[in-house]
Amino acid sequence: MWAARRARERDVQPREGERTRVAHPATFAAPPAANAEGAHSAPLPDLRPLVAYVDDSPIQRAVVARLLSRDYQVEAAGSGEEALALLRAQLPDVVLCDLVTPGFDGPDLLRRLKADPGLRHLPFILVTGDEHAAAHSQALGADDFLQKPYGPERLRTRVDASVRASRMVRELRAQHAELVRVHSESKRLELELHQAQKLEAVGRLAAGIAHEINTPIQFIGDNTHFLSDAFGAMASMLALLREVVARAAPGEAEAVAEAAARLELDYFVENVPATVRQTIEGVDRVASIVRAMKEFAHPDQKEMVATDLNRALQATLDVARNEYKYVAELAVELNELPPVTCHPGDLNQVFLNLLVNAAHAIGDRQKASGGRGRIGVTTLQDGGEVVVAISDTGGGIPEAIRDKIFEPFFTTKEVGRGTGQGLAIARSILEQHHGSLTFETVEGVGTIFFVRLPARQPGDPEVVG
Ligand SMILES: Nc1ncnc2c1ncn2[C@@H]1O[C@H](COP(=O)(O)OP(=O)(O)OP(=O)(O)O)[C@@H](O)[C@H]1O
Ligand SMILES: [Mg+2]
Repeated sequence: MWAARRARERDVQPREGERTRVAHPATFAAPPAANAEGAHSAPLPDLRPLVAYVDDSPIQRAVVARLLSRDYQVEAAGSGEEALALLRAQLPDVVLCDLVTPGFDGPDLLRRLKADPGLRHLPFILVTGDEHAAAHSQALGADDFLQKPYGPERLRTRVDASVRASRMVRELRAQHAELVRVHSESKRLELELHQAQKLEAVGRLAAGIAHEINTPIQFIGDNTHFLSDAFGAMASMLALLREVVARAAPGEAEAVAEAAARLELDYFVENVPATVRQTIEGVDRVASIVRAMKEFAHPDQKEMVATDLNRALQATLDVARNEYKYVAELAVELNELPPVTCHPGDLNQVFLNLLVNAAHAIGDRQKASGGRGRIGVTTLQDGGEVVVAISDTGGGIPEAIRDKIFEPFFTTKEVGRGTGQGLAIARSILEQHHGSLTFETVEGVGTIFFVRLPARQPGDPEVVG
């Protein structure tokens, strides 16, 4: 209907069969634009401010529209419902509404308008014959009033003032929105810079340490295996020698047995193999942590690569063990996944942040009520997507902060334990991977975070080809 009105304004007739609004008696068109030859030029946008006028009297609507039509576009409505539909279709600069008209309730329209976040800032002028118009309109929450009877001059003055105020408010709102945008953009950039520096530093350090530990741990492992073999051979030789000594001359056998007892040979023969076995287990454990650190860090990787997320998760669980082992049991269920195209180091950072948060939540609860908690790590494939769910039996996330936890630098933790960057970084990494991070939480029961990732990224050879 708005389009039809615009068509009339430009003196362009809607084509036959096109839906048009029945011409409203109170709607007045601006004169059509014409060039010197009388031919119609390309229509210029109508920049006149828009007044919405609400009155159930067609005559009154026609009069007011005529009085304002030189400087304003006027859109009129004959009922509160029609007015709301009109305001939602296109925001006017000001609403002019008759208070006492049989058939609809002006104050009701005003209440509904002020209750609507998208409309409440519109200036509302109440037109009333009430002798206490000022007090009455103020009590109802109107922004201004126009007392009947009024002449053209007073009508235009009131409308002018409100339109000026309305445009100023709109400009301020736009500036405010721009400021908020710039502020959050700079916060995001700051965070990304921080994140990049932090990841790079952690990655380099971890890779460096892993490299340093790798060489000695390898020769410790090799040497221990050598000692184990050597001791096995010596123990067999010892057994043989004992048999020979048993057949030796009297006195000699006793002397050897005495020396063996003094040197606690039996004790060594019994315990050295177990000691060596334990050492080898320890060395294997260190070697696997070093491997996990190397897998976790992935420094200097610029391109996304096809990655086994289960392996990445396992590496992260190994590296983060110290964070959770004192507070929680692990329940890990890694189902078969397709390779996921990603920056594995960045995703490991996401998993680490979620695991540390889970451990902290359980730790906090443990302080209050004791007992160990449980951290669940589950992976599964869902169509073309991969889902990683990390759950905890912590205290849950209180309702009041649920919409804040992804904000950069929002934290409920004391200094030194949290900086409020973990979830913001995780979400930003997942956005770069076209994935998402969501959560479900129940206070007093726990929280589950869901990482969702497409297995393939746009531009993957498999996708393009
Ligand atoms: N699993 C969870 N259970 C309960 N609350 C959580 C959980 N995960 C996050 N939160 C809440 O969200 C807040 C923000 O988390 P986020 O990881 O972004 O920062 P942080 O853990 O406080 O600090 P950082 O991760 O930088 O060390 C936390 O301070 C905590 O209040
Ligand atoms: Mg955190």
